[in-house]
Amino acid sequence: MSKLIIKNASELVTCKGKSPKHGKDMSDIGMIKDGCVVIEDEIIVDVGSTEEILKKYNEQDYEIIDAKDKAVLPGFIDSHTHFIFGGYRADEFSWRLRGDSYMSIMERGGGITSSVRSTRNTSLEEFINIGKKRLDKMMAMGVTTVEGKSGYGLDCETELRQLEAMKELNKTHAMDIVPTFLGPHSVLPEYKGKENEFLDMMINEVLPVVADKGLAEFADIFCEKNVFSIEQSRKFLSSARKLGLKLKIHADEIVQLGGTELAVELSMSSADHLLQASDEGIKQLSQSNVIATLLPATAFCLKEEYARGRFMIDSGCAVALATDFNPGSCFTNSIPLVIALAALHMKMSIEEIISALTINAAAAVGREDKVGSIEIGKKADIVILEYPSIHFLPYHVAVNIVETVIKNGKVIKG
Ligand code: NIG
Ligand code: FE
Repeated sequence: MSKLIIKNASELVTCKGKSPKHGKDMSDIGMIKDGCVVIEDEIIVDVGSTEEILKKYNEQDYEIIDAKDKAVLPGFIDSHTHFIFGGYRADEFSWRLRGDSYMSIMERGGGITSSVRSTRNTSLEEFINIGKKRLDKMMAMGVTTVEGKSGYGLDCETELRQLEAMKELNKTHAMDIVPTFLGPHSVLPEYKGKENEFLDMMINEVLPVVADKGLAEFADIFCEKNVFSIEQSRKFLSSARKLGLKLKIHADEIVQLGGTELAVELSMSSADHLLQASDEGIKQLSQSNVIATLLPATAFCLKEEYARGRFMIDSGCAVALATDFNPGSCFTNSIPLVIALAALHMKMSIEEIISALTINAAAAVGREDKVGSIEIGKKADIVILEYPSIHFLPYHVAVNIVETVIKNGKVIKG
């Protein structure tokens, strides 16, 4: 049995309590000064002050990590990524720097369509090799659970291959991967004007195979003007739910369509992006358990206005933060960047940011009973910072200050 004690943490953030954390509760992160965590066989078995805990355990029986002058917190959960894809779109990034918009590039056959071409040409083995490297980098930044979407195949074979790569990586990599089927991610030129035909193909031919093979826990759709409408999103997601998948939506990112309200109507696990979410949508979100997943690195890369994180929290929403790592709108998996943007541009406090990257993100991927907090019975997914306080996370701007990563009770980095 592997046994580990982390002791003397100058700040131990537990994030315990009701999940998800709404509004003001996001500031309540269960901080213990001079904290201690006891881990046995991948699971947290005790948490408290070092003095109180060490009275109960014989240190000789445990591997010891002395976290003196270090802050300790739950592993981060990146609850919205597209980390399995082929090819890159660096050229588009320079076009955007010259003033082209994301949607105009998409409309002339670039954007997601371009990634679909290269993803279709990428083998399962290549996905696994490149996926492993990307996961290693994410884990080094303290991510211990990641959600990953398909959506760069847009045909049965490639969508399944993306999901299979995640299944394989989930077995072979320490990272926990939550797979999402995002078949309706874009409409290829050959389906222009025949969007319903494409959607029916996804619903009737791909979705049942995905569900049958147990390849995805969630279904997602890009609900956006000139992509998929509210009605099409409702149809696809309702079909996915009937087959046992939980639901997410790319909602109100560029144009206010009402995807936020649809997320509440269908009690989805999360509504993501929300740059243009209406006041009414935010009010409805606040009265629901749908997680508002904000992706500030995408707004940053697209030079869009940020989602109204401060307003959402003040309205009582349960907010999560994620990277949206993908080859187009946001080619970064940087948690430190997300923290910097949330603090400096979305006016979120570091306590709120931590809740958003841990317990609320866990709820966004349906894992709040297993991860997202340092509590007895939860998986020992823990990060230790190089500095004594969580306040160094936004202060050391966009720099990774995660020194040690503990995944399933084992030291992975450190
Ligand atoms: O979440 N908005 C749609 N999907 C992705 C972008 C995908 C891409 O550009 O390749 C997003 O931003
Ligand atoms: Fe996305």
